[in-house]
This record gives sequence, structure tokens and C-alpha cells, in this order.
Amino acid sequence: MATMQDNQTWSGRFNEPVAELVKRYTASVDFDQRLALVDIQGSLAHAQMLAENKIISEQDLQDIRRGLAEIENEIIAGDFLWSLDLEDVHLNIEKRLTTLVGDAGKRLHTGRSRNDQVATDIRLYLRNEIDNIVGLIKNLQSALLDLAQHHTHTVMPGFTHLQVAQPVSFAHHLLAYFEMCQRDAERFIDARRRVNRLPLGAAALAGTSYPIKRERVAELLGFEAVCQNSLDAVSDRDFAIEFTAASALVMTHLSRLSEELILWMSPRFGFIDIADRFCTGSSIMPQKKNPDVPELVRGKTGRVNGHLIALLTLMKGQPLAYNKDNQEDKEPLFDTVDTLTQTLRIYADMIAGITVKPEAMRAAALQGYATATDLADYLVKKGLPFRDAHEAVALAVRYAEQKGCDLADLKLDELLQFSALISDDIYGVLTLEGSLAARNHTGGTAPKQVEIAIARARKLLS
Ligand code: ARG
Repeated sequence: MATMQDNQTWSGRFNEPVAELVKRYTASVDFDQRLALVDIQGSLAHAQMLAENKIISEQDLQDIRRGLAEIENEIIAGDFLWSLDLEDVHLNIEKRLTTLVGDAGKRLHTGRSRNDQVATDIRLYLRNEIDNIVGLIKNLQSALLDLAQHHTHTVMPGFTHLQVAQPVSFAHHLLAYFEMCQRDAERFIDARRRVNRLPLGAAALAGTSYPIKRERVAELLGFEAVCQNSLDAVSDRDFAIEFTAASALVMTHLSRLSEELILWMSPRFGFIDIADRFCTGSSIMPQKKNPDVPELVRGKTGRVNGHLIALLTLMKGQPLAYNKDNQEDKEPLFDTVDTLTQTLRIYADMIAGITVKPEAMRAAALQGYATATDLADYLVKKGLPFRDAHEAVALAVRYAEQKGCDLADLKLDELLQFSALISDDIYGVLTLEGSLAARNHTGGTAPKQVEIAIARARKLLS
């Protein structure tokens, strides 16, 4: 006993101090100190409930409040001394509280365990982050709309299989990402409901013998409900996995957009330019301007996807209830939050700084017979079955290709070789503008529809 360090919380039970290497291996304070302020928030609510139910005295509560306020100031000022000997954020704060206010500090942990404490902290932390992330997604959506607003008539080739398919407007293309972002935000808002439940009161795993009022703590902390089963409350991290899955999907969507930005910025496309402040040069090739930010977003997506797999794997083998494995949830989670929030912030700025080159988009849309479907649809409207129209147009495309011109460049008597149903009015149909305007229904690329879509999207953001 005499060999024990007096700052070890459970020293009474042990014959020798923990090995130095093990101490470092098991400690989490280096990274979980990020939870310090929500840890204090949770402790304040717990202490208030304990006092309201006469489990601790009113004086204890006053002392705890005074001590935690001081600790909070120290942490914010960067003056708090974190100790590896005290393992994690929870024990560091509790120890400091006891130093500051004495016995009241030692009473704070009545009816509580670090198991329900840490689960509460992560939920408080994630709740804040979700609110922040939803705001950041909205900012990005606004940037997409601001750019789209100017390009409802800017025609670009729409692709399938990365081959020119049909003309679309650049605005329409951007709005596809607005929709992805909208679902991303919905996913976070939905996951928040399951994050926002209180584990405290579950104590170590079975609940506690003190007359606690969990609903009161939930109310004080703004939780929508309490976790209904104590074993589940302390052990499952499905809410963190859901959060990471939602994050991985945002990153995946932004990775797709990044891939497009990179292609579009290549001189082979030349559709856009990304502002210099988001690019870097080459140390050897003087002419280079590289789209580093979208490339890194694409790369960092792998990192967040990896965190999702890490958390799923962390959970899958755990018997009920709490296991120390769960301490490993924090770094993937924190890195997911950091990566996602930085990405969203930078992305909104980058979208706002894009220069569009409509002539290059238009020239690309004019290559590749993007209006061939329009010619087929025209023949169908004149009575030809679609399969026959498809075949007639395929032959016309082959003919134009051999001539090295576009369908719209063929003379009427040339076109008549492929169908007698074609007349002069075909030329309005074969233009890019005609093709766009024809797709005039909800979700279509007609400028009129896209303007309606932008207005609807703006309303969703307000
Ligand atoms: N640092 C731990 C974690 O992050 C806190 C809970 C530890 N509980 C325990 N009985 N060892 O999960």
C-alpha cells in the first residue's frame, strides 16, 4: 500500500502502481480533453439533481458550482494542467475540483460512473457539432444556389459513362449537388434525435441505488428523452456510428463534385477555373496550377470512410455492457468532425470563387450529338414508334459523323434520307436551347424549371 501514488483513484484495490507504458497506453486525456466543457455541463446538471433530491447538500452544490466555474475558466484560458496519471478528462476535472473545494468535489461522483458520464459527454459534444455541421451544409448550399442563379441558360454536356449524353444547364448540374446536400442535412437532423438522449443515471451498467431523477437531468441538459435501458445506455455507440456514416456520405458527395471540378479545370475540358487561393503550383513545372483542394477532399473522403469502418469494427465484438474498447471511439469521431467541418467551410468558399467558361461548355455540348434523343423524340411525336425513331437517328448520326458535322448542320434533304417525317421545324429541336427548353417538367433541365427549383431551394434554406 505504501507504494501507491495517492492520486490513483482506485489505489485501494491494487498492490502495485500501473506500469508506465500501460499508463500511456490506457490514458485518453491527450485527446478526450476536448470533452472538458461538456463534461462540466453534465456534472453541473447531475449535481443540481443530486441536491434537489437531497442526495448531496445545498452547500455541496454551491461548492461544486464554484469549483467547476473556476475549472472552466482555467480550461478556456489554457491554464489547466492535464495529467496523464489521471487517465482521462473526467478524472482530471474531478481531481482538480476536489483540490479546489474539498469534500464536495468527492461527492460529485455519487450515483454516477465514468461509463454513463462519458456516454453523456459524447452525446452533448455531437449534438453541438451536428448543429454546427447543419449550418455549414446550408452555407454550402447557398453558395451552390448563388452560382446556379447565373447559369440557368449556360449549356453544358450532360454525361453518362462520361460520354456526352444530353445537354443540361450548368445550374441544373449544380442543383443535383444541392439535393445531395439537402439529404445530408436531413440525415444529421434525424440522427440528432437519437444522439439527444440521456445515458446519465445508468451509472456503471445497472443503474444506481440513490433516489435520482433522470428526467430532471435530461431536462436540465436539453435532452429529448432518457436512454431506457442502463446496459444499453453505457455501452452502445450506434449514434456515433450513424453520425460518422452521415459524415461519410457528405464527404462522398463532395468527393464526386471534387472529381468533376478537377476534370472541368483540366484544359481538356476548360469548363471552369478555380480561384488561385485554392490551388498550388508545381516546384518543377512553372505552368502548373493544381486543384489541390478538391483533390484533398477526394482523398480525405477515404479517411472519413475509414473512421466509419473503425467504429463499426470497434463495436461489433463487444459483449454488454461497457468495455474499454469504447475509449477508442473518440479519435475517429473527433477526426471525422474536424475533417468534415473544415471541408465544408473551405468548399463553400471555393464554390463562390469559381469562374465559369460558358463558351467552352457550349462547344463541348455541340460535340457528341447531344441532341440526337431530341430528333428521335421529334419523330415519335410525328407518329413513328420509338424503336424505329432510335434506329433512324442512329443512321443520321453515323452519316453526320462521316461528314464531320453536327446533326443541326445537315440540310433538310440530307435529313429526309432517314425519315420522310422530318420537316423544317426540326432545326428548332436540334439546337441546344431547344433541347433544354423541351425538358419542361419538375426535375427537368428547362431554364424555367430550374428557376423554379432554385426558388424552392432558397425557401428550404430560409
Ligand atoms: N475514458 C473512458 C472512455 O473514454 C471513460 C470510461 C472509463 N470507464 C471505466 N470503467 N474504465 O470510455
